Amino acid sequence: MGKRIVITGVPGVGKTTVVNGALGKLAEEGIIYQSINFGTVMFEVACAQKVVSDRDGMRKLPGPVQREIQRKAAQAIAKTEGNVIIDTHCTVKTPKGFLAGLPEWVLRELMPDMVILVETDEDQILGRRLTDTTRVRDPDSSKEIALHQEYNRGMAAAYSMVSGCMVKIVKNQDFLLDRAIADMAEALM
Ligand code: AP5
Repeated sequence: MGKRIVITGVPGVGKTTVVNGALGKLAEEGIIYQSINFGTVMFEVACAQKVVSDRDGMRKLPGPVQREIQRKAAQAIAKTEGNVIIDTHCTVKTPKGFLAGLPEWVLRELMPDMVILVETDEDQILGRRLTDTTRVRDPDSSKEIALHQEYNRGMAAAYSMVSGCMVKIVKNQDFLLDRAIADMAEALM
């Protein structure tokens, strides 16, 4: 079966950067993971349904539409075999409130061995969002980012209760990307 690891973190925390670094390290050791971005699979489903034109627009769609796209993405990803990383979100901040990234029907499709939360100080995340011009980030304050990270920890605990998965926190601090990559690689070994 291989391992199924879910990687989460608020937008702009750097989860994709850390995962890519860790995958490079692991490949040197002969450990191979397939990395799947849940948002990308959702975006493909959403484009096929012609409901959205850019990936940052998905979290603004009505809740039932997001949930339906989410379910289809989970069903497609669940078919993947071998060691798999699923780069996604514990919760998605939508205009109507927090949407669970892994509601029960998604969790039961994926049944991860581990959920990893990538975190850092809220001020650092705010700074990264402001300098990343490739994405359309929500204009959250530091306090709102801190609340989102706190809420994600609670949700990760709930996911662990339902699926029995481990929960691990990897810190991705400014100037310490190498340490984050090493911690992530160790968790994936
Ligand atoms: P997704 O594409 O995952 O959106 P995202 O969270 O915004 O992801 P990013 O890849 O942009 O951010 P990141 O945290 O990976 O940061 P990055 O490495 O780029 O998802 C898109 C959408 O899909 C969601 O909005 C949602 O609508 C939907 N979706 C996804 N999963 C879902 C689910 N389960 N249910 C429902 N909807 C779902 O880094 C950011 C910046 O920081 C970069 O400039 C980088 O260079 C810099 N950086 C990184 N690390 C460091 C460091 N240590 N020091 C300094 N700078 C750093």
